[in-house]
Amino acid sequence: EVMPFLFNTQYLAKQIKNCFGLEEVIIVPGDSFADYVTKKDLGRVAARYLQKVLYPGAVIAVTGGTTLAEMSEAVGSDVLYPDILVVPARGGLGEEMELQAGTIAAKIAKAIGAQYRLLHIPDNLEENTAEILKEDVHIKDVVARIKACDILIHGIGSAMEMAARRGLTLEEINRLEEKRAVGEALRYYLDGDGNIVYAVPGIGLELGDLLHIKKVIAVAGGRNKAEAIAAVLRHGGPKVLITDEGAASKIVSMM
Ligand code: BG6
Repeated sequence: EVMPFLFNTQYLAKQIKNCFGLEEVIIVPGDSFADYVTKKDLGRVAARYLQKVLYPGAVIAVTGGTTLAEMSEAVGSDVLYPDILVVPARGGLGEEMELQAGTIAAKIAKAIGAQYRLLHIPDNLEENTAEILKEDVHIKDVVARIKACDILIHGIGSAMEMAARRGLTLEEINRLEEKRAVGEALRYYLDGDGNIVYAVPGIGLELGDLLHIKKVIAVAGGRNKAEAIAAVLRHGGPKVLITDEGAASKIVSMM
């Protein structure tokens, strides 16, 4: 019974890779929307992928979320990398501590014997407060390192789920509905065509920075996230997608 699975995931990976012009697509069997074991597998495969592509001296940026948290649990290395730096892609986004990018960055750094730096700034700041903080030398230094990262691993969320999780205002949620936002990555909300329809203000990596990052890896699964993942791929940015069969088969059926 292994063959049909393999067949299906390889077929789906090829379709998605070609359709969105990606370098690599990895698909784990199952659907993390339906069962938590698949999300764990997704995290494990992402961790293995990260361990394959990291190298001494690299700066690795990560986002938060339950998927990346699973990944961070699975990272482990016999080799230590004291000259790798792990950073959160952004400041806090109003998530639970365990799901915050900073927590995940620190956890990965510890697991591979690397360094980490944190951005102790909440997102969703008032415009002028953010502008003042951006001028702080310490913050400036961390932000510069984040923007110059070599490897970025980010999650993707359904727009409405992320809006609720981050406690966006009713006004903001109405706006997302009006603009038909389906997906979210790195605090940017996208419609089905991959256009940015809203961005939560904040400090850290901007979507435009992705163009200059050598290795951008998106990790997200579950059939409930198919539209969100497709929107992010349409927008462009990630070159590697690590997903599951549930999301992949729905994405292919939408193509
Ligand atoms: C958040 C990130 O922490 O996690 C988002 O800031 C991302 O950009 C989200 O979309 C994904 O979360 P999850 O739990 O679905 O992996």
